Amino acid sequence: MDKKKVFITSQIPEIGINLLVKKGFQVEIFSGKNQIKAIELIKRAKDASALITLLSNKIDKEIISHLPQLKIISNYAVGFNNIDVEYAKQKGIIVTNTPDVLTESTADLTLALILACSRRINEGIDLVRKKKFKGWAPKLLLGKELTNKTVGIIGMGRIGSAVAIRAKAFGCKIIYYSNNRNLSAEKITGAKKVSLSKLMKNSDIISIHIPLNSKTKDLINKEKLELMKKDAIIINTARGEVIDENYLIEMLKSKRIFAAGFDVYQNEPKINPELLKLDNVIALPHIGSATEEARNRMSELVAKNVIAVLSGRKPLTPVN
Ligand code: GLV
Ligand code: GLV
Repeated sequence: MDKKKVFITSQIPEIGINLLVKKGFQVEIFSGKNQIKAIELIKRAKDASALITLLSNKIDKEIISHLPQLKIISNYAVGFNNIDVEYAKQKGIIVTNTPDVLTESTADLTLALILACSRRINEGIDLVRKKKFKGWAPKLLLGKELTNKTVGIIGMGRIGSAVAIRAKAFGCKIIYYSNNRNLSAEKITGAKKVSLSKLMKNSDIISIHIPLNSKTKDLINKEKLELMKKDAIIINTARGEVIDENYLIEMLKSKRIFAAGFDVYQNEPKINPELLKLDNVIALPHIGSATEEARNRMSELVAKNVIAVLSGRKPLTPVN
């Protein structure tokens, strides 16, 4: 019997690739410098039984319908809004993601953004680099203390809870908005579930941890953003499309809120140039899960999902 083929749309850490090779699969990796194009993906993966994809690969009907051998799409991300999951399901193709393994890393980065926004770290770095530091001064770069602040978590799932636990350690009070109550997070952090409007109105710091789907697209619209406290901080490490980015930029321009931290953008990888002109914005290049630990575990998990499905077993972390 021919070896089953696994096509990977990009180089990922070797640990998962080695697992696949050891199990006897034929592994093919796209090694181009840029993102693989749809046409090339279809050409190279047409005889593949498994596809390992990045969140930046749009895996739509068109692509899926051209891959007749496919049994599994194993996404190298926790988010899977890049995949037409409904259509994959119709075709009997399993879709998996990488939850849990990147939770702590993403929560760490979220806290980094909260702290950086609160203490104006980017402005401080800029000042020093530009040799404008003239000595200690009573009013130099005054920020905000975290103790006793209210942190509003939008989406109290795995990452939301991990952020809540960290914020609690900084002396923050936690409120959250979520589809379901998270009793374990409530117990650990004392978090209280509130409506989205109440969260927007009462939080000093807002942090977004919901997946992108048809229900959450533009959830944090102009009307919701308007409710924010004067001097609030908002952080998005989830997906850009859940927020009205243009309106938020207007609010940041007029200093209507204190600051915003972005790891994700509406038109990623394009970033609205207006955003980059603002002192009260910290913009990162989608690095929430970018630690050696998380990326190695993600690599292992995408491989294990493929191995399970191609061996006729249940996937570890299916989404459909
Ligand atoms: C990163 O954004 C992910 O979804 O894993
Ligand atoms: C994603 O992993 C989440 O549940 O927050």
